[in-house]
Amino acid sequence: MCGIVGYVGKRDAVPVLVEGLHRLEYRGYDSAGLAVVHRGRLAVTKTAGRVQDLRDKLKTNTKATLGIGHTRWATHGEPNEVNAHPHTDTAGRIAVVHNGIIENAEQLRAQLQGSGVRLVSDTDTEALAHMIAAELAAAEAGDGPAAPGDLEDAVIRTLRRVEGAYGLVVLDIKNPDQLVVARNGSPIVLGLGENEMFVASDVSALVRYTRQVIYLEDGEVAKIRATDYRTTTLAGQDASAKIPMTVDADDDDYELGPYQDYMRKEIHEQPDALRRALRGRLDDRFATARLGGINLDARELRSIRCVKFLGCGSAYYAGQMGATVIEELARIPADAEPASEFRYRSPVVDPDTLYVAVSQSGETIDTLMAVQELKRKGGQVMGAVNVVGSAIGRECGRGIFLHAGPEVAVASTKALTNMAVSFALLGLLLGRVRDLSAASGHRVVTGLRALPEQVNRILAAEEDIATIAGRFAHAEHMFFIGRVRGWPVAREGAQKLKEISYVHAEAYQAGELKHGPLALIAADMPSVVIVPSDDLVAKNISTIEQIKARGGPVIAVTSTDIPEGLADAVIRVPRAEPELEPILLNVPLQILAYHAAAKLGRDIDKPRNLAKSVTVE
Ligand code: F6R
Repeated sequence: MCGIVGYVGKRDAVPVLVEGLHRLEYRGYDSAGLAVVHRGRLAVTKTAGRVQDLRDKLKTNTKATLGIGHTRWATHGEPNEVNAHPHTDTAGRIAVVHNGIIENAEQLRAQLQGSGVRLVSDTDTEALAHMIAAELAAAEAGDGPAAPGDLEDAVIRTLRRVEGAYGLVVLDIKNPDQLVVARNGSPIVLGLGENEMFVASDVSALVRYTRQVIYLEDGEVAKIRATDYRTTTLAGQDASAKIPMTVDADDDDYELGPYQDYMRKEIHEQPDALRRALRGRLDDRFATARLGGINLDARELRSIRCVKFLGCGSAYYAGQMGATVIEELARIPADAEPASEFRYRSPVVDPDTLYVAVSQSGETIDTLMAVQELKRKGGQVMGAVNVVGSAIGRECGRGIFLHAGPEVAVASTKALTNMAVSFALLGLLLGRVRDLSAASGHRVVTGLRALPEQVNRILAAEEDIATIAGRFAHAEHMFFIGRVRGWPVAREGAQKLKEISYVHAEAYQAGELKHGPLALIAADMPSVVIVPSDDLVAKNISTIEQIKARGGPVIAVTSTDIPEGLADAVIRVPRAEPELEPILLNVPLQILAYHAAAKLGRDIDKPRNLAKSVTVE
């Protein structure tokens, strides 16, 4: 969603900010803007278009060493230039960029209007700029409690009157050596350079310059200057004792290289991503998995009676894959639930259940809230997150890092694959402290080790899959059908197709077809049927026959042999250990969705209406 960048140092701030905004484009946005201090005055440039439009609009002679920038995803007010950030006070002294939603914005705006302030935008953020300016003005007139000229103090006083979520950066032309930043529910990371400092909502905007970062916690405020920073809490306590982290990514990870878009690049990165997820985690001696980050000894692992995955969108479907593999390997009940529903249904939290919060970004607000609900009710929760240092990872305090590397495309591919493989590792570990035999454990370890190469073989068939995608891309609707292991795969396949190609896609359990959806089967309704090599092959073949008998075209995605000529198109994947097959069967569906979207000329990395990281409800 919205993105934030900030810079204070010796460089020319404008290109640093624009570059940072480019890096944040993947999160999804509808307008962009930046503000710098140029010759003692505030220079603000905004556009209702793309970052490239902003770059074109900027005056080349606007030199500055301090500035802030923003990509906006509209919440309060339509996406236009006036509502784009940064927002300023009436005198043009203060500029603010803000992610999140101020819940008492209406009340704050009314108070400001009541005191004669003319608001120019429809946003919640503009109120903050006026409030901070008023605090400073009062202090400078000697009739306010804030210290004269102390921006940090004015920001803290303002935020104490604010309810809601924010990550924000404030610039004051009368304090041209500093920025003040604050966080409550929306990520803010400081990048520490040599005699320069960066701020961003996401490390991708600053890894080009530094890998040393500090994540702000909720309720913290920081004053940052080129050479130092100071962190306090809104309550006024010192919070400076922070150890910088080294980000496990560099600028090259965000480069497209030979690819036209990130989704295809990330699909092709999966063999390497899988190797990273498995590295050091396979224990041949005891035929099990090593997952140090979950911090549970054998006795604690044994006392888990149930596993529940919580995630949103594809992360939820990955959780479903996880639930299936855990039930199979560990023989304990497991299921998955959309995290977005969890806290609203007053969940019964069972102390013997292991809850797993699944999130690529680690910032999805619904998943974070589910974790907080669980912790409040005494649930045992661990994270399965990709972004180290992210809110969910920190809130859980233990878990499995996915090690997929930075994922830029909105459509999740390699992170989802690494989620699924991480849950297979968890299943193996849970199984081996229970009844999974050493022989079966060895079989799974060997199967896991083979996955990267097997994915490579699927990627080698990309051209054939692209041809199939081209044949069916113009369908208005598609079904994705799966059974047991194939069911979460079908759901994720439908999700991927609809989100990037805008083709309406629905997933159904094969056994449910006859209970309603079969009525829709016709020549213009292709079905993708997932056929793993398990003891349900005959049943799945019969499903294909039923669809064919009603004139529906079928694309079979399978690791087994199906009768010649039965399906209209067949996509084959290598045969894996049965419990691991969903991981492989999912990959051609990514490729299918990608090429269908490409054929339809979609903006693949930035599908309409979607954002990479959903940090507001
Ligand atoms: C789909 C997709 C989304 C995300 C969902 C959760 O391709 O990417 O459905 O899976 O928004 O995001 P994370 O995993 O960051 O919590």
